[in-house]
Amino acid sequence: MRKAEGAALCKLHLVTPRFTIHETIEVGPDIARIVVDAPRVARHARAGQFVIIRPLDDSERIPLTICGADPDKGTITLVVQAIGGTTTETNAMEAGEAFSDILGPLGLPTEIEEFGTCVVVAGGVGVAIVLPVAKALAEAGNRVIGIVGARDDDHLILVDEMTDVCDEVLLATEDGSAGTRGFVTDVLEKVMGAHDVDRVLTAGPIPMMRAVGELTRPHGTPTIASLNPIMVDGTGMCGGCRVTVGGETLFACIDGPEFDAHAVDFVSLQKRNEAYHTFEACRLRDAREELDA
Ligand SMILES: Cc1cc2nc3c(=O)[nH]c(=O)nc-3n(C[C@H](O)[C@H](O)[C@H](O)COP(=O)(O)OP(=O)(O)OC[C@H]3O[C@@H](n4cnc5c(N)ncnc54)[C@H](O)[C@@H]3O)c2cc1C
Ligand code: FES
Repeated sequence: MRKAEGAALCKLHLVTPRFTIHETIEVGPDIARIVVDAPRVARHARAGQFVIIRPLDDSERIPLTICGADPDKGTITLVVQAIGGTTTETNAMEAGEAFSDILGPLGLPTEIEEFGTCVVVAGGVGVAIVLPVAKALAEAGNRVIGIVGARDDDHLILVDEMTDVCDEVLLATEDGSAGTRGFVTDVLEKVMGAHDVDRVLTAGPIPMMRAVGELTRPHGTPTIASLNPIMVDGTGMCGGCRVTVGGETLFACIDGPEFDAHAVDFVSLQKRNEAYHTFEACRLRDAREELDA
């Protein structure tokens, strides 16, 4: 190889990709939809997969579902709820700024087949996780019923996007400000009574996913939960995301994040996710102080 070619090649490999934010839009209280450059991820992403991002050089790494991908534009869409230090830093960034890192696509893609009638059940920001799955199931020829829940109308997000991909979307709010007053499981119970459901997928708060699994268990309906354990490296090295499924220890980042909801030990998952509460509260306070300064 000529010297000049070698130098050009080295330069090419040393170029750090810029994960520039194209747009960031508030879609709910403390919830932002962010479109960001990540061409390689956009080319390879499949429903159910996620990325690990580090918004700033000194930020922690956090997992986020790839809610959408446009391989032609080389962008991916993330929907982020600011609940702690790093998500608050992420949502404070503006168009034109760039994330430090985006690693992915990670995790196993969702198993997509023609199952028949599928119900996707989401609570809160879990809608961002089920939306690409609902789209892929619909494209595979399934009848898809979406159930979206939140504490009130203000916190219901991506309902139009779900309506675009599902055959039917049913809403539940705890205060009754939209759809059925109550929980997504109240709506799911009625759907299970009225339809022959072949598969259920769920994402959202741990108690909600657990309740969905308990509801479908007596029906024997295959039910998949997209789990949200704490993750660090996302490559199966640190053990941070270990979950117990059917008595077996598995890593959500490489064996999941989707697992059989009837076999997941949700109690231990909840306990592990609560292990760092005091530290997380301090990080959130620090992040807010830095943003206010
Ligand atoms: C595979 C996967 C996909 C995810 N996709 C999305 C997504 O698309 N959009 C989104 O907004 N969030 C998503 N999450 C959750 C997101 O990663 C966490 O909210 C984030 O790591 C919190 O970081 P933080 O520093 O802001 O808050 P922290 O200070 O780490 O935590 C603040 C609070 O959130 C709780 N928490 C921490 N980690 C998680 C977690 N993994 N799940 C739920 N609660 C948590 C803590 O117990 C604490 O109460 C996903 C998680 C996983 C594992
Ligand atoms: S995040 Fe480290 S093993 Fe899964």
